[in-house]
Amino acid sequence: MPSVATTLNLIRPGGAVTSCSPALKDAPWNFDAVPVPAYGPGSSMADVAPADTPRQGEIPAEYRTATDEELDRRILAAKATLGDRVVVLGHFYQRDEVVKYADFVGDSFQLANAARSRPAAEAIVFCGVHFMAETADIVSNADQQVILPNLAAGCSMADMADIDSVTECWEQLEELYGTEPDASGRVPVIPVTYMNSSAALKGFCGEHGGIVCTSSNAATVLEWAFERGQRVLFFPDQHLGRNTAKAMGVPLERMPMWNPRKPLGGNDEQAVLDARVILWHGFCSVHKRFTVAQIEKARADFPGVRVIVHPECPMPVVDAADEAGSTDYIQKAILAAEPGQVFAIGTEINMVQRLAAEHPEHTIFCLDPVVCPCSTMYRIHPGYLAWVLEALVGGEVLNRISVDESVAAPARVALERMLAARP
Ligand code: 13P
Ligand code: SF4
Repeated sequence: MPSVATTLNLIRPGGAVTSCSPALKDAPWNFDAVPVPAYGPGSSMADVAPADTPRQGEIPAEYRTATDEELDRRILAAKATLGDRVVVLGHFYQRDEVVKYADFVGDSFQLANAARSRPAAEAIVFCGVHFMAETADIVSNADQQVILPNLAAGCSMADMADIDSVTECWEQLEELYGTEPDASGRVPVIPVTYMNSSAALKGFCGEHGGIVCTSSNAATVLEWAFERGQRVLFFPDQHLGRNTAKAMGVPLERMPMWNPRKPLGGNDEQAVLDARVILWHGFCSVHKRFTVAQIEKARADFPGVRVIVHPECPMPVVDAADEAGSTDYIQKAILAAEPGQVFAIGTEINMVQRLAAEHPEHTIFCLDPVVCPCSTMYRIHPGYLAWVLEALVGGEVLNRISVDESVAAPARVALERMLAARP
C-alpha cells in the first residue's frame, strides 16, 4: 500500500483513483505564500480560516529545493546529533514521509503525554496540528519547548470556536439560566470542550467548572458533567457531542445547536431552557465526507465487512456503522482482530492507508473512495522538519508554540478533571 503522497502522484486524469484537489500534488510551501489565510488543499479547503490564524513564512530555499533523499539524510543526521535532546512526535493522521522520523506515533493526547516520558528532551517537535502542540506545551515540563514544523498546520474544526464567541454565548446562557444551583446542587450549565480546541477554550473550561474530553472518553466526561450540572455546553464538534449524548439516551430535541452568529445561537428561549446538551456549530471536514451510501456500498461489495467510523462523523453515518471509536479505538480493533477480516474505516486517509500497509493479514480500506487528507496535517512536509531540526542543531528554536501560564494553568485544571473522571 503506497503512502498518500505516492498515491496522489500516481493519479492520472480519467483513472480509477481520484483526489479532492489536484493542488494536493503541489509542494505545501506554495500555500504558505497565499495572501489570504487558507487551510490549503484537502478536506478543509472550503472552510474559512480566521483572519488571525497562524501563517507560515517562507522557509529557506535549500529546504524547498532539496530532493527527498537529501532531506532524509539531513533529518537523520540532525536527529543523530541532537540525540535525547529532541523528541519527534507524529500524529496518526500525519503523512508517512514525516511519520517515519517519529519517536512516538499516536493520538493527540497520547502524544502530549509521550513528551513527558522523555524529560531529557529539551525540544518536542510535534508533527500534528496547532491545538495538539499547545496541549503538549501545557502538559510538558516547563523547560521543554514545543515546536510545530509548519505554523499553518491548524485545525479547521478547532478554529470554529473562538474564546470571544464562546464567552458571548456563555453570557447569554447565564442571563437566561441565572447562576444558582438547583436543589440537588447542580449548576445550570457545565462547559465541555473537545481536545480539538484552542488552549484558551480549555482555560475557559477550567475557570468555569468545566472539563476537556477526547473522542475516547466523551461519554465518561458527559456523565461527570451531568452529575454537576443540569446541562452541558459542548464545543466545538457538534457531531462528537450529538453522537455521544444520543448513545447516553439524550433525545435529539433536547440538543439544540448554537450558531455563534445568531442571537441565542439561532434558538428560541424555550429550546435553550429545555436543553440537556447545547451543541456548538462546529465540524470536521475530513469526517463530514463520510456518508451512509459509502457504508451501503462497502456492505454490498464485501458482505461481512466490519465498518468502524470516528465519532466526528455525522450521526446517520455513526448509526449505520458497526462501531464508532477514536483513532486509538480503531487501531486497537484492527490489532485485536483474527486474521482475514475486512475493515471499512471512516477516518483520515493517511491513518487508514498506514493501517492497511501494516496489516496485510486483513483487507482494510477507507470508506471515502476520494483521496482527501486532512488539509492542515498535510501542510507538514519533511522540508519543514529538516528546517526546524537543523535550526535546533545550530541552537535556534523555530516555530515555538508557547501557552501563557495565565491560560495554561486553568487549562491544566480542565485536563486534570478529565483524567480524574472515571466511568
Ligand atoms: P485524536 O484525538 O484521536 O488524536 O484525533 C484527533 C483528530 O483530529 C481527529 O480528527
Ligand atoms: Fe482537525 Fe479534522 Fe484535521 Fe482532526 S482531521 S485535525 S479535527 S480538521
